[in-house]
Amino acid sequence: MDGENFMKNILCIGAGYVGGPTMAVIASHCPQYRVVVVDINKEKISAWQSEQLPIYEPGLDEVVRHARGRNLFFSTDINQHIAEADIIFVSVNTPTKSFGQGAGKAADLQYWEKTARQILENSTTPKIVVEKSTLPVRTAEAMEVILNSNPKGLHFDIISNPEFLAEGTAIRDMEEPDRVLIGGRETPSGQKAIQAIVDIYTNWVPRERIITTNLWSSELSKLVSNAFLAQRISSINAISALCEKTGADINEVAHAIGLDNRIGPKFLKAGIGFGGSCFRKDILNLVYLCEYYGLSEVAAYWEQVIKMNEYQQARFVSNMISAMFNTIAGKRIVLFGAAFKADTSDTRDSPALAVCRSLLDERAEVVISDPHALENARIDLGEAAKRVTFEPDPIAAAKGAHAIAVLTDWLNFTRLDYEQIYRSMVKPAFIFDGRNLLDHKKLYKIGFNIYMIGKPPLTHSISV
Ligand code: NAD
Ligand code: UGA
Repeated sequence: MDGENFMKNILCIGAGYVGGPTMAVIASHCPQYRVVVVDINKEKISAWQSEQLPIYEPGLDEVVRHARGRNLFFSTDINQHIAEADIIFVSVNTPTKSFGQGAGKAADLQYWEKTARQILENSTTPKIVVEKSTLPVRTAEAMEVILNSNPKGLHFDIISNPEFLAEGTAIRDMEEPDRVLIGGRETPSGQKAIQAIVDIYTNWVPRERIITTNLWSSELSKLVSNAFLAQRISSINAISALCEKTGADINEVAHAIGLDNRIGPKFLKAGIGFGGSCFRKDILNLVYLCEYYGLSEVAAYWEQVIKMNEYQQARFVSNMISAMFNTIAGKRIVLFGAAFKADTSDTRDSPALAVCRSLLDERAEVVISDPHALENARIDLGEAAKRVTFEPDPIAAAKGAHAIAVLTDWLNFTRLDYEQIYRSMVKPAFIFDGRNLLDHKKLYKIGFNIYMIGKPPLTHSISV
């Protein structure tokens, strides 16, 4: 791997859902830069070097294949690549702290700080260090202190360049971002560092979509962006509960309000609540920051977004239990979907797994079917996985079941032969559509009792 012919050496520390795809897109558009992605996880790096990439993401294979070996490399030799880098993106995980002060809310920055110290130890030239991970506002200040109080006399510029991609559409989001946000210091050196990052993105992003701000606005905008998106989901889910009581239909309400230009149609899909590795973590972090600065009303306001999400999941399970004659013990219940959303293999904080755990607590016999996420589901469920059957074929999974719960919006669940599924199930057969995904009228005609989110159920008179 010879770095001499490249204009600049870019390094990304952390080869996860963000580091891998973002660097692959940068490398594919910027053949003049050498892009190396490193990680402490050897298996992950081997997977990135192989034909079987560690994450499922539409379009990712093609982008990686295009650049890998040309100017995109994956490695575990972190120290050597730090030494060679001009620009270092840090994309390590920033989970919620599980211990000590701020436990359950604050961001656990230990991986970040370790990385900063490792950068310092292995640097012999000045560098630009880019926060790609989502971080609490003012993290860059701590990074500046750690990196710049060094006896070597090296200067490091810290830049915030938060990532807004969503899983399942990561490549499209990177290729055509709504905006790229770059925050930095207002000093001459800070401005030069901002320009170096702008120069990367202008290789494919129109200049007017690249916005530059001060460091704190950039860090805070990322948390606020996720909080606003999650807030819309909690808002529509709150209204779905009211729809179920009043006979209004949540899809019709969402459509009607979404046509107002000021509201807009996106992120108004009611369901079993948001999941994924970030919304919950980032809102908790925002709540913690507000509490830290003494803004208890602001903290309580945002905390409610999470409470509503938990309520929606709990409500879904209790609706299932009451529809199935107040007991599901020993009943075979098939979960269609384990991933936190369609088009990803990611099951981190997936509402499907939360529902699975609640059903296991009720002693149901749970079977999970998912086209890409079964392996991650098994890992994330831990001990509970021993009590679950994993079946990739949804038709086989539904055989002999009392109920199906649709928990991930995979399109393939809409294309199944539900007549065949109905025939193979115990009667009365139930479908609980937690994503309002299926053709409910058609299923009702086949004979199913259908329960949806934010709509009256379609049930045949059931004799117990
Ligand atoms: P991830 O867990 O998939 O990846 C993080 C990687 O960092 C892991 O592979 C881990 O082994 C590696 N790592 C940890 N410490 C390291 C160290 N000291 N040296 C080298 N490697 C190290 O996480 P992710 O989903 O890619 O998220 C990363 C950050 O990006 C988080 O802050 C997250 O909030 C943010 N983010 C995530 C998404 C998303 O869709 N997943 C989108 C936008 C922003
Ligand atoms: C989200 C944001 O959309 C990204 O902009 C951000 O970069 C990312 O978090 C992050 O910081 O990690 P992601 O979690 O990958 O992306 O996926 P989303 O499409 O936002 O979906 C999140 C959850 O909300 C999923 O469980 C999804 O099913 C649910 N959702 C989404 C709804 O229930 N209703 C909707 O209308 C939209």
